[in-house]
Amino acid sequence: MRIIKARDYDEVSRKAANIIFSVMTEKPDCVLGLATGSSPVGIYKELVRRYEEGDLDFSKVTTVNLDEYKGLDREDPQSYAYYMRENLFSHVNIRSEKTFLPDGREADSQKACEAYNQILRQAGRQDIQLLGIGHDGHIGFNEPADHFPKETHCVDLAESTIEANARFFESREQVPTQAYTMGIQNIMAAKQILMVANGKGKAKILKEAFQGPITPQIPASILQLHPNVILVADEEALSEMESC
Ligand code: GLP
Repeated sequence: MRIIKARDYDEVSRKAANIIFSVMTEKPDCVLGLATGSSPVGIYKELVRRYEEGDLDFSKVTTVNLDEYKGLDREDPQSYAYYMRENLFSHVNIRSEKTFLPDGREADSQKACEAYNQILRQAGRQDIQLLGIGHDGHIGFNEPADHFPKETHCVDLAESTIEANARFFESREQVPTQAYTMGIQNIMAAKQILMVANGKGKAKILKEAFQGPITPQIPASILQLHPNVILVADEEALSEMESC
């Protein structure tokens, strides 16, 4: 694993955007695995800026997102589909039919997950998969469990995740309790993984995930087995990791 240290959120965003920039430049028809949450917002801003300057072309790009809340329509401002349009898709020349997320409107979990697995198979391996990390070590919405779920599945969100994500909703009661998420195998299939993390709040979990035992109780720890992981994080987030 390579670790890139940055001073603050803006520098994390620029450095991570540079990595995505080079993947897109080398392979204009690349498959980008995308993430939501607060960590990637600055990266998307930076990619939009580079697009507006004429340095990036999204016309041949395919995107697959990690996850979506079950029960939210894509027009719901809290849905990840809406987030992706707001933060990236509506600002660049990506073809909407080449942007994919699990379908939060599909009430039948099995149907929703099978459909997304099929989409992932058709898209092919992600050239790069962007990831944030939850305070409990979740990636996508793969919560701590007794095994590593392989493919897209429906999860019951952990209390701590509902708490953490409540800041994006008007009240805690509005946070959906379930989500569809890519499985660990879907994430590990990516040719390259790019994780971003900011702030003191992520320091403990980063240490556990990358310098502790590999366990499904800390889903991100599986990334220790991936041959090509880059972690871009600020000094605070790296403060508990040894030799950083
Ligand atoms: C959500 C998302 C994850 C994300 C995590 C951390 O739970 N499903 O993909 O990594 O939040 O979010 P943040 O970057 O806001 O800390």
